[in-house]
Amino acid sequence: MSLLEVDAVTKRFGGLTAVSRFSLTVGAGEIVGLIGPNGAGKTTVFHLLSGFQVPTEGTVRFKGVSVVGAKPHAICRRGLARTFQIVQPFVNLSALDNVMVGAFNRTDEVAAARRRAVEVLDFVGLGARRDVLARELTLPDRKRLEMARGLATQPELLLLDEVMSGLNPTEIEEIIGLIRRIHGQGVSLLIIEHVMRAIMALSQRIVVLHHGEKIAEGGPEAVARDPKVVGAYLGEQS
Ligand SMILES: Nc1ncnc2c1ncn2[C@@H]1O[C@H](COP(=O)(O)OP(=O)(O)OP(=O)(O)O)[C@@H](O)[C@H]1O
Ligand SMILES: [Mg+2]
Repeated sequence: MSLLEVDAVTKRFGGLTAVSRFSLTVGAGEIVGLIGPNGAGKTTVFHLLSGFQVPTEGTVRFKGVSVVGAKPHAICRRGLARTFQIVQPFVNLSALDNVMVGAFNRTDEVAAARRRAVEVLDFVGLGARRDVLARELTLPDRKRLEMARGLATQPELLLLDEVMSGLNPTEIEEIIGLIRRIHGQGVSLLIIEHVMRAIMALSQRIVVLHHGEKIAEGGPEAVARDPKVVGAYLGEQS
């Protein structure tokens, strides 16, 4: 049994099929990349896995149990956390308070949530900025905060949606290092990313979406050479 098993999931919005009979597994300890041109359906897949949207058809099982129809907080408590492509901190709360919200997924005690939040902020490199309001953080720090909020929930599987977008090459290298350290703590990862260098370096397996359908899956090198994948990305630029 894989940690995550997605089978023939479809999501329709009126006449638009955003995701079509999409299947995917993520094994314990794996890092899987999910790529595809803009509008391919990647973020919609994350909404379906994390309970923010319900599939029109198909099944999603996490740790052997269907999560279709379960609320996001319940799925999170089972051990599946996500970040948002458009970072969504509580802008008027401090970094620490933002991360404590995630930590309350595992505890009702303020002191324990605070301890966990401090530990996670140190881990992501935001320890010195824990009292800064989220709205005053730079974009790279907001991306770290988004990851910290997810980590504070103590996930077994963490879904990262474009945590490198808008970052410069140095900042990207730092996030790659952070993702490796998260993985080193035993967390499995499913990563959406347009920064190809990063996704190639991090992923053990890559799944490619195009117009809502899986067009390729395999090791990074094989996927990068796949004519269907090359065609999908070139088509996007024309
Ligand atoms: N709530 C919604 N209602 C209607 N259409 C939607 C909704 N959410 C997404 N879509 C459409 O579904 C398709 C897939 O969108 P999605 O955001 O999943 O793509 P993506 O692969 O994450 O793209 P990007 O790389 O630009 O983030 C797009 O055509 C989008 O306009
Ligand atoms: Mg997206």
